Amino acid sequence: MSLVFLADISYHAQMANQDIENSKKFESLSKSANVEILTDADSLKTYGKDWTKHYTPKASAVFLPKTTEQVVEIVKWARQTKTALVPSGGRTGLSAAAYATNNEVVVSLQKMNRILELDAFDQTVRCESGVVTEHLQKYALENGFFYPVDFAARGSSQIGGNVATNAGGIKVIRYGLTRQWVAGLKVVTGRGDVLNLNKSLVKNATGYDLRQLFIGSEGTLGIITEVTLSLAKKPKELVVFVMGTNELDSIMQIYKRFKSEMTLIAYEMFTDIALKYVSAQNVARPFATDCKYYVLLELEHESDAYLERATEIFSELLEAGVVIDGTISQSPKQAAELWKLRENITEATSHKQPYKNDVSVRVSRVPEFLSEMSATLKREHPSFEVVWFGHVGDGNLHINILKPDDIAGPQFVEKCKKVDEVMFKMIEKFEGSISAEHGVGLVKKAFLHHTRDKAEIEIMRDIKRVFDPDRILNPGKIFD
Ligand code: MLT
Ligand code: ZN
Repeated sequence: MSLVFLADISYHAQMANQDIENSKKFESLSKSANVEILTDADSLKTYGKDWTKHYTPKASAVFLPKTTEQVVEIVKWARQTKTALVPSGGRTGLSAAAYATNNEVVVSLQKMNRILELDAFDQTVRCESGVVTEHLQKYALENGFFYPVDFAARGSSQIGGNVATNAGGIKVIRYGLTRQWVAGLKVVTGRGDVLNLNKSLVKNATGYDLRQLFIGSEGTLGIITEVTLSLAKKPKELVVFVMGTNELDSIMQIYKRFKSEMTLIAYEMFTDIALKYVSAQNVARPFATDCKYYVLLELEHESDAYLERATEIFSELLEAGVVIDGTISQSPKQAAELWKLRENITEATSHKQPYKNDVSVRVSRVPEFLSEMSATLKREHPSFEVVWFGHVGDGNLHINILKPDDIAGPQFVEKCKKVDEVMFKMIEKFEGSISAEHGVGLVKKAFLHHTRDKAEIEIMRDIKRVFDPDRILNPGKIFD
């Protein structure tokens, strides 16, 4: 059961197990700003974490502001009381950036979930940061527009969290990352200033674009309270091709062939092992032939001639033996079914407590990296079952090592951390990124230097000092 404390309620009486000092601190905020505060064990556990596995949540309270003004009060209070805050959205992150592991107070934006204004002329929508991604997507469609940033966690993730992590997902190849769609931001910095950034302007040549600093900052510079997003034109019907192949190089050959003539909306890859787990969940296999690798390609049905040409390319690839087998969706319902093959991988493997990685290299180097890393894993950890999948059209691979049943959790994590060291050195050699889209958070901070050089990390630290002089905002995330 979740207990709610409001201004006029005495904490001392109701939080028998809470530290007296904490309760006094919360009382002062509660009196000055009437912020809703949760301190029951269930809430601390639920809000103290995100979807990252292998960490233990330890939050001291959860604050649920309803306005930007309340967020300002929270930040002022945190500065006075030297309390660390963890900004929190839909908690679907995979880098532990929204974890409170050190008695921090979680500031959940979930009650700030109103869509505030649609501007049909400018094609923008302004919303509070706790709006769920899928609600925003549906709202855009109902109003004749399209919000194109999309990923499997759309039903829980929130817009503020998407901005704070610069969310990517399945349509980046066509529409780009969240960054491309942020027309304006309202942010409360760690100093308590409210910044109203860019104000939906298309052109704005007035010095540093501070908006960009907050996108992908993982809650370390400010708390995003409002976002103005640009909207796209609604696409025509989307058609999905799923193709199987046995050669890594064919994955890029198929990509290159289609891309030379068509506009790809998505280009995803998964392996036979991923398919095994997904089909165990009653998702129909795409075709009878077993292949080592599968690619999912999405196109817009721009015209019948366009789709015919895509089908011809598919046939040519089949004849050339590049594609071994494949299928094309004949309706939006079939397209959605085919997407399950890719989008259900995370859920279908979650019972195996996967140790996740999310890396990127230049698109052209995907097969080379995959084959080198895969060979290393097979050689050094033959007992590991590894699920590879990802947004290969963006050079982004998800590498999920499944926990063997005969290894205890902590031992498994230790072994995987050793794999990280090898993998990130390899990533550095490939001039890639240790995190393509999940972020750094707690999970990757020790490895940041493999992607960002010393001078860059020092500048990031300096920037944090400007926006958050007292280190109250998500301390210990991205870097120490
Ligand atoms: C995905 O592409 O499905 C997401 O990034 C989630 C994941 O890697 O598990
Ligand atoms: Zn992904």
